[in-house]
Amino acid sequence: MDRRSMLAGAVGSAAVAAWGGGIAEAAETAAADTRRLLGADGRPDWGAVRAQFRLDPDWVHLATFYLASQPRAVRAAVDHLARQLDADPMLVPTRLSLPDGPTGWDRVRGSLAAYAGGEADHIALTASTTIGLGVVYNGVRVRPGQDFLLSEDDHPVHQAAARLAADKHGARVRLASWFADSARATTEEVVSAVRSRIRPTTRVLGITWVQSRTGVRMPVEAIAKVVREANRGRSESDRCLLVVDGVHGLAAVDADVARLGADVVVAGTHKWLFGPRGTGLVWLAPHALAQVRPTFASFMGEEGAAALSPGGFLAYEHAFALPVSVAFHQTLGRSRVAGRIAELSTRAKQGLARIPGVTVHTPAAPEMSAGITCFSVRGHAGSAVVDMAAERGIRLSSLYHDSLGYARIGTGVMNSARDVDAALRVVRDIAG
Ligand SMILES: Cc1ncc(COP(=O)(O)O)c(C=O)c1O
Repeated sequence: MDRRSMLAGAVGSAAVAAWGGGIAEAAETAAADTRRLLGADGRPDWGAVRAQFRLDPDWVHLATFYLASQPRAVRAAVDHLARQLDADPMLVPTRLSLPDGPTGWDRVRGSLAAYAGGEADHIALTASTTIGLGVVYNGVRVRPGQDFLLSEDDHPVHQAAARLAADKHGARVRLASWFADSARATTEEVVSAVRSRIRPTTRVLGITWVQSRTGVRMPVEAIAKVVREANRGRSESDRCLLVVDGVHGLAAVDADVARLGADVVVAGTHKWLFGPRGTGLVWLAPHALAQVRPTFASFMGEEGAAALSPGGFLAYEHAFALPVSVAFHQTLGRSRVAGRIAELSTRAKQGLARIPGVTVHTPAAPEMSAGITCFSVRGHAGSAVVDMAAERGIRLSSLYHDSLGYARIGTGVMNSARDVDAALRVVRDIAG
């Protein structure tokens, strides 16, 4: 250690010591919170999980996939880091700690990799899905005449990222439809549509793991197979890369992001993963790393995925608390979380389907859907349904600026069957 870092270290320790009494307390709070999440049988106690969130009890919240409410352990970790930064901003970026030990970019990437089933070196960190998509499309090596193939159902920020990059590089964006009716979408239909639309010039096929416009969960593995077939005989610079907007799949579907068969998966971690707001990731398969150039200066590293992480001083108290969100999910268990989400969304879909005047636009099959259920009520725009439900204390959501404009119910682990039933009663009222 050189003299400068020794001095900085000493200053840092002094600052930590100034509020050090809080460390043991924070560690004990975190451990107690974790113990409370599980019942005597070792399974999640969903009531105890709900109690971790500071959601307003006067509302039924069925839109937390929009932006996460953070569980107590995550809020405590953010506070813990903010106190260190306020005491001594020079602790950045290497000497900040969570109650259970040091944190920093390596720990954040390591914890996400363990959760996503990949390697830390293949993960870039960003502040949102939007920024991740911008980094990927802007950075991908593309030639004039090549195209980015997306669908009408991908989020506007995904389409915009592709369009902005295509305009810059003389490439084109093509928008396809992967199914005729979202409620009846099947793997076979999607696969055959994708196969027929990929051209030799297609450089990126951009899809959404779980579409926020329809609730459809896209069959990523099957699509990846079609892309592999299309890539046979292509050179590296002609290969079609499968880019997945994974924000509503991560921590809602029980699958390893790194084993979906995609080349790139982009996701905010501030939705289903309950990460601190302003956090997100980009996972890249090793062979895709050379195909995406950095857009921003990175403070994390100059090689591989680290170089793709936009730099500058960031909200470290948020970014460095991410391992606590991951630990929260690991305590509950990824498959139990996905199972609970599916159970509640199935209840929502079945209940909605029984209401006269209501059409469900998300497939009933759990393997073609996840936590977002889209529906419409005859005679009402989706945004009007959301407003009327809000007047009755139910928080739903819709993509307001979208012509389809379906209303959406999002079922997270903080929700209960009672929440879903309360929403169903209100929708029945609106439809009546
Ligand atoms: C499918 C999809 N992609 C991207 C976004 C943008 O996410 P972020 O707020 O993390 O940029 C959203 C927003 O909810 C979304 O639904």
